Amino acid sequence: MELYRVQQWRPKLVLLLLLLLLRVWGSTCVNLFDLSARVAPLNGLMLHYYKYNTSCTNAEEFVQLIVNSAWKADRSVTAALLRLLYSDCFVTGCDASILLDGDNTEKYAIQNQGLRTNGLYLIDDIKKVLEARCPGVVSCADILNLAAKEAVALAGAPKYPVYTGRRDGLQSTAQSVDLPPPDVTWKQALAYFESKDLDVLDLGTLLGAHSVGMTHCSNIQDRLYNFNGTGRPDCSMDPNFLAQLKKKCPPGSKENKKVYLNPASGRNYSFESSYYKRVLKHQAVLTEDQQMITTSDGIRIAHEFAAGFEDLRKFFALSMTRMGGLGVLTGKQGEIRRNCRYTNANNPHLK
Ligand SMILES: *[C@@H]1O[C@H](CO)[C@@H](O)[C@H](O)[C@H]1NC(C)=O
Ligand SMILES: *[C@@H]1O[C@H](CO)[C@@H](O)[C@H](O)[C@H]1NC(C)=O
Ligand SMILES: *[C@@H]1O[C@H](CO)[C@@H](O)[C@H](O)[C@H]1NC(C)=O
Repeated sequence: MELYRVQQWRPKLVLLLLLLLLRVWGSTCVNLFDLSARVAPLNGLMLHYYKYNTSCTNAEEFVQLIVNSAWKADRSVTAALLRLLYSDCFVTGCDASILLDGDNTEKYAIQNQGLRTNGLYLIDDIKKVLEARCPGVVSCADILNLAAKEAVALAGAPKYPVYTGRRDGLQSTAQSVDLPPPDVTWKQALAYFESKDLDVLDLGTLLGAHSVGMTHCSNIQDRLYNFNGTGRPDCSMDPNFLAQLKKKCPPGSKENKKVYLNPASGRNYSFESSYYKRVLKHQAVLTEDQQMITTSDGIRIAHEFAAGFEDLRKFFALSMTRMGGLGVLTGKQGEIRRNCRYTNANNPHLK
C-alpha cells in the first residue's frame, strides 16, 4: 500500500521538479532582456526642463544645431562626447566635474589620458552660445548629456530621452577617478558597474559605445605581446586579427599610434552591431571587450545584440538614460557654471 503510493508520487514529483526548474531557468532567461522591467530613475530630473521651466526654451534646439555642424566637420566628436559622458557620470555623478580645468582635476587622472580635446572644445562652443542667449541658465552637465545624445543619434543610435535639470558640481580631483583600466576582467568591470547601481545588461550594452572611437596602442601593447604577464599574446584573439594589430602597433614603438576600437565601423564612426559580431569572432581590440564572452551573461548579450540591431538600439537608449541619471545634482545643489572649465568662484572672467 505504502509502496504503491510512493510509486504513484514519483512521476508527479519529477514533473513538478522539472516544471520548477524550467520556471527558474525561463525566468532568468527572459528577465535579462525584458525592457518593460527596466527603468531609468528620474532622480529629480524631468523631460524638457529648459523648455517648460526656464527662460531658455530653445536650449535643446541650440545644442542640436551646434552638434550637427560639428559632426559634419568631424565625426569623431561622437566618440569624444561618449567618452566624456562616461568619465563624468561614473565619477562623482553627472555633474560636469570632468570639464573643470585646474591642477590635478579629473581630466588629469591617468585613466582620462585618452580624452579628446575636440569634445571639450565643442562643449565650450555650445556653452558660449547658450550663455549669450540666456546667461546662467543651462548647466554644463546638461549640455554634455544633450550633446552626447545628438552625436550618438547622428552615428546611428536612437534619440533617447535625456532628462534635464542637472546642476554643475563644485569639485574635481584626479584622486576621485576610479574608472577601471582597459584590461579589466569582465568580473571586475561588472563589480565596478554594480558599485554605481548599474547592472550586467548596462555593462554589456554600454560597451557597445566601443562601436565608435579609437584607442592608443599603449592600451593594447600588453595584450599583443605580454598578456597578463605571460610574455605571449592573448591567446583568445583571432590570429589573423592579432597579426594585423601587431603590424599597427609594433613592439616598443615610441609613436603610440591609434587604432579603431571597432575596425568594422572605422572612420565612419557609425554605431552598429558589428562590434558584437567581432567580439563573438574573437576580434575585439581591448581586453575589456573580449572579456565579454568569458561569462554566460556576456555571451548572451553579445549574441542578442550581434543578431538584433534594433534590440541594441533600444537597450542602448535605456542604459544611456540610466547612466545620465547617476549622482545628479538638482534644485539648489551645486551651481550653473558660466564657463564649463571653471566653477563660478574660480572663473577669472567673473572677477
Ligand atoms: C517645473 O515646472 C512645473 C510647473 O510649473 C513644476 O510643477 C515643477 O516642479 C518644475 N520642476 C522643476 C524641476 O523645477
Ligand atoms: C590574469 O592573471 C590573474 C592571476 O594569474 C587572473 O586572476 C586574471 O583573471 C587574469 N586576467 C585575465 C584577463 O585573464
Ligand atoms: C564606411 O561607409 C562606407 C559607405 O557607406 C562603406 O563603404 C564602408 O565600408 C564603411 N566602413 C569603413 C570602415 O569605412
